[in-house]
Amino acid sequence: MENDASRQNRYRISGEETIASPALVVFRELVEHNMATMADIAGGVDRLRPHCKTNKMEAIARMLLERGVTKHKCATIAEAEMLADAGAADIFLGYNLVGPNIARAAVFAGRFPDVSFSVTADDGRSIARLGEAMAAGNRSVGVLLDIDPGRERTGVRVGREARELYALIDRTAGLRAEGLHLYDGHQRQRDLRERTAAVDAEWQKVAAFRDELLEAGHPVRRIVCGGTPTFPVYAKMEDPSIELSPGTCVFHDAGYGAAFPDLDVFIPAAVVLTRVISRPTPNRVTFDVGTKAVASDPPMGQRGVFPEIPDAVQVIHNEEHLVVETTDADRWSPGDATILIPQHVCPTSALYPEAVVVSQGEIVDHWPVTARNRRITI
Ligand SMILES: Cc1ncc(COP(=O)(O)O)c(C=O)c1O
Repeated sequence: MENDASRQNRYRISGEETIASPALVVFRELVEHNMATMADIAGGVDRLRPHCKTNKMEAIARMLLERGVTKHKCATIAEAEMLADAGAADIFLGYNLVGPNIARAAVFAGRFPDVSFSVTADDGRSIARLGEAMAAGNRSVGVLLDIDPGRERTGVRVGREARELYALIDRTAGLRAEGLHLYDGHQRQRDLRERTAAVDAEWQKVAAFRDELLEAGHPVRRIVCGGTPTFPVYAKMEDPSIELSPGTCVFHDAGYGAAFPDLDVFIPAAVVLTRVISRPTPNRVTFDVGTKAVASDPPMGQRGVFPEIPDAVQVIHNEEHLVVETTDADRWSPGDATILIPQHVCPTSALYPEAVVVSQGEIVDHWPVTARNRRITI
């Protein structure tokens, strides 16, 4: 994927020896590149609603705001609060609220009355409770009905139940029926044409359902669509209600890089700096990038890519250790540093309280990963 030369150029860090490992390192110019590429694909920033789950950093939210991105997506109340603190004026929490999170959403709406705040829902009782909590505080929240495009994670399929739920949202005090949420993370076809065909088939059903809702007199202002793999597909559609909600592409990662050749326009911008802590056998090198330092939701053996050890086979991954086998083990001694490009960057950034920021090869800042916490103040 990468080679020594590109590590020296792309991921060069002067003063690397001062960074305690393992560390999350964000390369600012690469983030800028990814943001610009995202805007290019979207044909501008107007339809973008990037998901902050990948980075959870107020600094990234501010960079997007500076680029004119006004619409933002999140999955937790803490992420919503971080976005609001950064100055975002339109925040969509694409996650169904239940239990005490309903009251927290009402507190958020009261705390940030100037923010256009919306959430998802897919259940009648939760919709009723959300309405009660909002109306009790004389507040309102936008609601997007969560549509299941075949992923079977959350949401309802289009049809009678979906129609009834939308009508319920529209008549419930405290709620504003604003549209639909369509997250299709299961569309993982490697070939862009096949991915496009699969997304298109589901989209036709959703667009027809939207038209039915409009005919029935309900407002449907937006349909928030997709993540990074389906982003280029929705971006090509001309329907004005479509909003694009990729998250990963702002940082990109080795997982999407390997799975989707068309996403090679993005460059991994957040990596883990790790050091050798032991050379237990002639062909083994042990790094300090354990499961607390890089996401372990990808299968064992695929937790990341070492650009400087192309043949590394990951054989043991414990809390603080990653053991790799390589024919090149003799090159490595305890104390040597290298980088690991995470396979899955979103849960990797959540493992760090802050990221070291590198610009033009120099350490220039440290950004808190604010919304890795479940609660900021609300
Ligand atoms: C609901 C929702 N929207 C958007 C995204 C962003 O997708 P991606 O990480 O592919 O950019 C995710 C990712 O998990 C998600 O769960």
